[in-house]
Amino acid sequence: MKSFGNSELDFSQLVKYSLDTIFVLQDCKVIYVNQAAFDLLGLKYPDQIIGVEFDRFLHPVFHDIFRERLERVGRGEVTELMEQKMIKSDGEMIDVEVMAAPYIVDHQTLAQIRVRDITIRKNTESRIYNLEKLSSIGQMAAGIAHEVRNPLTTVKGFFQLLQKELNHSYFPIIVDELDNAIKTLNNLLQVAKPDFDNEANVSINLCSELDSLIFLFQEKLYNVTVTKIFRDSDREVVGKKNLILKAFFNLIKNAVEAIEGKGEIIVEHFYKNGRIHVKIHDTGMGIPKEQIRILGTPFFSTKTDGTGMGLTQVFTTIHEHGGHVHVESELRKGTIFYVELPCKSV
Ligand SMILES: Nc1ncnc2c1ncn2[C@@H]1O[C@H](COP(=O)(O)OP(=O)(O)OP(=O)(O)O)[C@@H](O)[C@H]1O
Ligand SMILES: [Mg+2]
Repeated sequence: MKSFGNSELDFSQLVKYSLDTIFVLQDCKVIYVNQAAFDLLGLKYPDQIIGVEFDRFLHPVFHDIFRERLERVGRGEVTELMEQKMIKSDGEMIDVEVMAAPYIVDHQTLAQIRVRDITIRKNTESRIYNLEKLSSIGQMAAGIAHEVRNPLTTVKGFFQLLQKELNHSYFPIIVDELDNAIKTLNNLLQVAKPDFDNEANVSINLCSELDSLIFLFQEKLYNVTVTKIFRDSDREVVGKKNLILKAFFNLIKNAVEAIEGKGEIIVEHFYKNGRIHVKIHDTGMGIPKEQIRILGTPFFSTKTDGTGMGLTQVFTTIHEHGGHVHVESELRKGTIFYVELPCKSV
């Protein structure tokens, strides 16, 4: 095989196809960008960026610091990595990490700006932060729920005894409402302290369990087609069966409830890279963008009879099992919940 010398290597290709976004600036104006920059900023044509001041793509909060860092580059310094925000061509804000260094051509110091998209990392960080917040709120709530549930259960017991001696048309309503309150507290306890029931870990074949769960919705599904795409159906996950089934029950229930009139629910199962992936796709009403962020917050519900604990249970359970939930949704088009869980090793 031929070995290449430096003179034969075309290093410009390294820049052109680099995964990092690279901008070259002359006096704050962009004079070169690589392909990754087009992808990052959602640009189509060179004239959307070439000759344009770099600030245009930067959140105004960072304009001063950017100029100051550029001056340092002019003096030959390499600036440290800094988190900033850039603005895409459609106005969307993205989190990035930026570094600037001198790039000397013909005795002139230009600036090379390297930008890395850190949206995924930022989202994960905020999820973890929310989860931590949730777990401390959860612990408090669990304590209170526990204290309130016991007297309520006692009240219900005595009330039922009383019903044997007395009769009144209000009594069934009182028992119903007590049941609702106890059910809510039980839900809260299960979500806030998933170990509450101290369930043992067992092997779970998600395909057959998903099959049974879908069957539970049979009577609600006359206008809804359910398509099952189950691949790798012999694979299993390990975990607390009741909690995991409840999580998938909650996701399917939401999918069913999101569809008014006719629609479709597609449930997919497959194995990839050591993980089991389950995708629950509905063609329902979709979720507004600003609400996607708060999904999973206890008691967040847009339904008149919803408790808003369904997704809290889903997120808590899947994370407790080392998994991950991702949501994509478009208004009036539908929603996809992607769930992945570690696969049991064979
Ligand atoms: N597949 C979906 N399509 C559209 N909106 C959804 C979907 N899943 C969840 N949501 C939205 O998220 C909110 C919270 O869901 P969550 O399951 O936590 O509570 P809920 O469904 O309202 O009440 P509960 O689960 O107690 O019946 C819902 O009220 C709804 O607005
Ligand atoms: Mg729900």
